[in-house]
Amino acid sequence: MNPQTASTPGSTALVTGATAGLGAEFARQLAEQGHRVVLVARDAGRLAATAAELENSYGTAAETIAADLTDDAGIAAVVARLSDPARPVEILVNNAGIGLLRPFEDNDIAEEKKHLKLHVETAMELSHAALQGMLGRQSGRIINVASVAAFLPRGTYSAAKAWLLSFSRSANMAYAARGVKVTAVCPGFTHTEFHDRMGMDKTATPRWMWLEARQVVSEGLADNAKGKAVSIPSKRYKVLTSVARVLPSKLVAGPARRAK
Ligand SMILES: NC(=O)c1ccc[n+]([C@@H]2O[C@H](COP(=O)([O-])OP(=O)(O)OC[C@H]3O[C@@H](n4cnc5c(N)ncnc54)[C@H](OP(=O)(O)O)[C@@H]3O)[C@@H](O)[C@H]2O)c1
Repeated sequence: MNPQTASTPGSTALVTGATAGLGAEFARQLAEQGHRVVLVARDAGRLAATAAELENSYGTAAETIAADLTDDAGIAAVVARLSDPARPVEILVNNAGIGLLRPFEDNDIAEEKKHLKLHVETAMELSHAALQGMLGRQSGRIINVASVAAFLPRGTYSAAKAWLLSFSRSANMAYAARGVKVTAVCPGFTHTEFHDRMGMDKTATPRWMWLEARQVVSEGLADNAKGKAVSIPSKRYKVLTSVARVLPSKLVAGPARRAK
């Protein structure tokens, strides 16, 4: 039997936060490409519905793990799946994420710790688990969903996403020669449930700044397949981030988020 590689249809992709927004779209496009999928999120009912939809639409196997990725037991369940040598996972998408509406000093520190854990510690732990098998097989793909916020001084969300960006750059350099591609996908504002969940007023952001999940994911997957360390979907955000990198922090920090 030929070994599966991360690009072979039929290989397995695990996507966190796979029931809504960007994660659901990653799962859909990967299933469409012929990959088996493992879907992770907290809501078991929604996971089952998403899995059934993918199996019906693309005839691919869809497994689910109901897990809270801010919780050690939830992380351990996903680590166990990633570490099972009998069922290798060739593609990992660290996507689950949340936003906090209020400024840092006004947030409960427990909320901030969960936010940091979900974006950084969980992604680090899942990447570490997945890499063990990927490096052994000399084949694998890891996508870390960061944000254009990683390039901006915008609170703890930016700081967490900057960690993912920096980690992806160094991991891609370290592991490319060993067959593993690591990419930070850095979307700008994208229509998903993210802003409604955090209670943000979406009308305060101009329409031209909004992207569709379908475009973000297809560009992110294509850039990862090419071995790029950083993917910034859409021309407009490529230009905006290039400009942001040379402007003083005060100019790019922007106004505080407005609640609904
Ligand atoms: N939308 C944007 O404008 C934008 C821009 C840049 C970057 N991003 C990043 O893109 C990623 C995906 O966000 P999205 O916009 O697609 O958000 P979304 O539509 O709100 O979807 C979030 C997904 O993550 C899951 N999730 C949330 N908390 C979780 C937890 N503690 N444990 C396990 N799963 C959890 C949710 O399912 P359950 O609630 O069932 O767990 C859901 O499937 C995030 O990392 C976000 O920071 C978003």
